Amino acid sequence: MKTRAAVLHTLDKQAPFAESKPLKIEEIELDAPGPGEVLVKMKAAGLCHSDLSVINGVRPRPVPMALGHEASGQIMQVGEGVSDLKVGDMVVLVFVPSCGHCMPCMEGRPALCEPGADANGKGTLLSGQRRLHLGSQAVNHHVGVSAFAEHAVVSRRSCVKIEQDIDPVEAALFGCAVLTGFGAVVNTAKMTPGQSAAVIGLGGVGLCSLLGAVASGAKDIVAIDLNDSKLEIAKSLGATFTINARDPDVIAKVKEATKGGVDFAFEMAGVIQAMELSYRVTKRGGTTVTASLPHPQHNWPLQQVSLVAEERTIKGSYIGSCVPSRDVPRYIGLYLAGKLPINKLMGERLKLDDINRGFDKLDAGESMRDLVVF
Ligand SMILES: NC(=O)c1ccc[n+]([C@@H]2O[C@H](COP(=O)([O-])OP(=O)(O)OC[C@H]3O[C@@H](n4cnc5c(N)ncnc54)[C@H](O)[C@@H]3O)[C@@H](O)[C@H]2O)c1
Ligand SMILES: [Zn+2]
Ligand SMILES: [Zn+2]
Repeated sequence: MKTRAAVLHTLDKQAPFAESKPLKIEEIELDAPGPGEVLVKMKAAGLCHSDLSVINGVRPRPVPMALGHEASGQIMQVGEGVSDLKVGDMVVLVFVPSCGHCMPCMEGRPALCEPGADANGKGTLLSGQRRLHLGSQAVNHHVGVSAFAEHAVVSRRSCVKIEQDIDPVEAALFGCAVLTGFGAVVNTAKMTPGQSAAVIGLGGVGLCSLLGAVASGAKDIVAIDLNDSKLEIAKSLGATFTINARDPDVIAKVKEATKGGVDFAFEMAGVIQAMELSYRVTKRGGTTVTASLPHPQHNWPLQQVSLVAEERTIKGSYIGSCVPSRDVPRYIGLYLAGKLPINKLMGERLKLDDINRGFDKLDAGESMRDLVVF
């Protein structure tokens, strides 16, 4: 069948993207789902910094590639062997398909699935196949999802079925921002009530971490960004102390406000300066959790003696250390119970044709979560 998709052909287009148009909206050929795959009619797809990082070359991927990975949709057709999804089911898509058989999957860490990571690196589905074509040329899938498209063929293992009564547009956020940001707090850090947190970088992911700290019963919640408007949003979501990262005394002020530093700092900005700040605002014995994905050649110089003599911990968090089929319904349940108000993070609803302008807003650090709505 034919569908319309946002395709990235080169990695050299500079902002403003509304003019350079890195994403071309094209009629593209979509094969029928193969064994273990499904055809999804997309409902909504969020604009995440990880998409922007492919566009601006920070996270190079094979091109041409149909982008987008934070999405919800409805099953239109199931491939051979798919017995637990049927036509009409609502799904949230997850950007690492988990095979269920490799060592990380068996250890209960499907976010680290090895065949899933391998397929994502190559731009294929978990099956190793590409189901997208422009004429005779195969088009790569973005992390098994390629959600900035009216339809997608994905692995069954990229889908979590949703049985709750949630607006499909809001459901899209659970595929990345919520799984990643909230999961970093509850799964990776395992915060307990009365502890303190700092969130550095208040985009869709960081604001979900802030909501995670609130839901975990954090006493002090420090919110830090370069953009003052983000600090105002953070206050309205439960931050107890906000400060601009440009303040020359930012570290001293956070330590003063939290009586020596925070138990957990969450680095969700994606730059080395933010990582350094996140490490330095923790207390002695504190933990820094980072979910951001800076350029692979950017290294962070760590003062090793402080790690040892102050018993600090640094943890990476990929998709919020999630088990998708456990966590997506659990987090949606929290939202429906009023305990995870992700509706307050919803930004502009865009048409697919306006997507390049949406990435200009994200690039300027202005967006919470803008979404393409189909
Ligand atoms: N680990 C994962 O599974 C995973 C999943 C999704 C996104 N990510 C990564 O998480 C990061 C955040 O994603 P997002 O979509 O929320 O991004 P975003 O662009 O919406 O938000 C980033 C925020 O960081 C702020 N910022 C930039 N530099 C800063 C600095 N030096 N100090 C403080 N704040 C600063 C920006 O103003 C912005 O508000 C990105 O690196 C993204 O690639 C990782
Ligand atoms: Zn994302
Ligand atoms: Zn696996």
